[in-house]
Amino acid sequence: MSLPKNFLWGGTTAANQAEGSVLEDNRGLSNIDMLPLGADRKAVGLGELKMLAWDDEHYYPAQKAIDMYQRYLDDIQLFAEMGFKVYRMSLSWTRIFPNGDDAEPNEAGLLFYEKIFKELRKHQIEPLVTIAHFDVPLALIKKYGAWRDRQMIKAYVNYAQTVLTRFKGLVKYWLTINEINILLHQPFVGGGLVFEAGENQEEIKYQAAHHQLVASALVTKKAHEIDPENLVGCMLAGGNNYPYTCRPEDYQEAINRDREGYFFIDVQARGKYPNYALKRFERLGLKIEMDPEDSKILASAPVDFVSFSYYSSRTVSAHEEDYEQNTGNIYGTIKNPHLTNTEWGWQIDPLGLRNSLNQLYDRYQKPLFIVENGLGAVDTPNAEGFVEDDYRIDYLRQHIQAFTDAVTIDGIELIGYTTWGCIDLIAASTGQMSKRYGFIYVDCDNQGNGSFARSRKKSFYWYRQVIETNGENLATIEMAAPSSVKS
Ligand code: BG6
Repeated sequence: MSLPKNFLWGGTTAANQAEGSVLEDNRGLSNIDMLPLGADRKAVGLGELKMLAWDDEHYYPAQKAIDMYQRYLDDIQLFAEMGFKVYRMSLSWTRIFPNGDDAEPNEAGLLFYEKIFKELRKHQIEPLVTIAHFDVPLALIKKYGAWRDRQMIKAYVNYAQTVLTRFKGLVKYWLTINEINILLHQPFVGGGLVFEAGENQEEIKYQAAHHQLVASALVTKKAHEIDPENLVGCMLAGGNNYPYTCRPEDYQEAINRDREGYFFIDVQARGKYPNYALKRFERLGLKIEMDPEDSKILASAPVDFVSFSYYSSRTVSAHEEDYEQNTGNIYGTIKNPHLTNTEWGWQIDPLGLRNSLNQLYDRYQKPLFIVENGLGAVDTPNAEGFVEDDYRIDYLRQHIQAFTDAVTIDGIELIGYTTWGCIDLIAASTGQMSKRYGFIYVDCDNQGNGSFARSRKKSFYWYRQVIETNGENLATIEMAAPSSVKS
């Protein structure tokens, strides 16, 4: 039993974590450019520390990222060498509309992405494009307070319509908003939200969520009108919640936590607000302003497929005291004694991926796409400059086996698999370069020092073999450092 022949194997990056050159060719600044390295990053991401301009005390990793803006041709060449069928990437909104809502798009920005898509097509690599990956124009944060304001719908739809029209025929797979549920956990990252003291954060977050959901539906509809070949997906930060014990109240807590994420996908895939969410708004007294037309808009354009990221499962309890053993993830999660941890405290759970696929498929009955998965680890090149990342191969092998089982044994419809950070890039949560996910090593440290040269890791050759055999051969490869690892 094998994966379908047209299975889309590949990798993922995001504009703000890879491109750098943030002021080049008229690009405007965005929320994510303002996230500093170091202790303040968390508070800025939460929207609790306002940082809407650079200062001299901080280093801002997005400024350089991995210099992909200048090196994309070489990077695509390496993806092609691995045999990628698909490359997931995001567009930088402010390369195209520097202020988010300018009267005319910036031609230099459009041209940059057009060249990328043409290059990908030259290598028979299908682009999978996220329209907004943790990306809110700074000018719109200052003007409207970002997604808390309904004006954002118009700006986002105009931006999306521009790229859907310009890249018609070059791009077929689109994602509207990356990890849409992250808005609840990192409101500045997910929605450009900054809170004033005393504000009802919960109400503002769900108001912003409503605007994003309406905008996403409008764009899904537009995408189908512009080109009926387009396929549009939603994108969930996935991973299910386990109850810490079999106490019924712990199980209930796990259901409720799962619903925090499902809420978004329920709307995007089924076209209406789930009752549990409306009841919760009522119970908490959250007043979410909705236009009378909104329910029609949501119902008119459910997504074609459901995509999600998967790094780990989470463990929750109804009892405060159980959280003493918190792990390092951005979600509050209890250490699961049956799992091991990554160096950053994320719990490794391949079977959790198979279970997530089953749950999502049972719930939505739509094709699924795993668009992020991977191991963030410290890589140390040996004397020859070669990274022997057997730990990464091991992690990926187990996860690939798990989704293969979900397809071949459970009958899940799965379009493809793109690993996160197929080339080392800036970590979203910490801003570190040392948290590496790639098959390709980038010579650069946390402060942006280095040659930025690329070199192939051991996992590069392993993943090439996986793709070549359509996932049949997951065995590790025995190899000495190749004579030339540099690109
Ligand atoms: C997802 C994001 O949350 O996880 C990516 O979509 C992010 O942007 C990835 O980089 C891994 O998280 P981190 O913090 O290790 O980079």
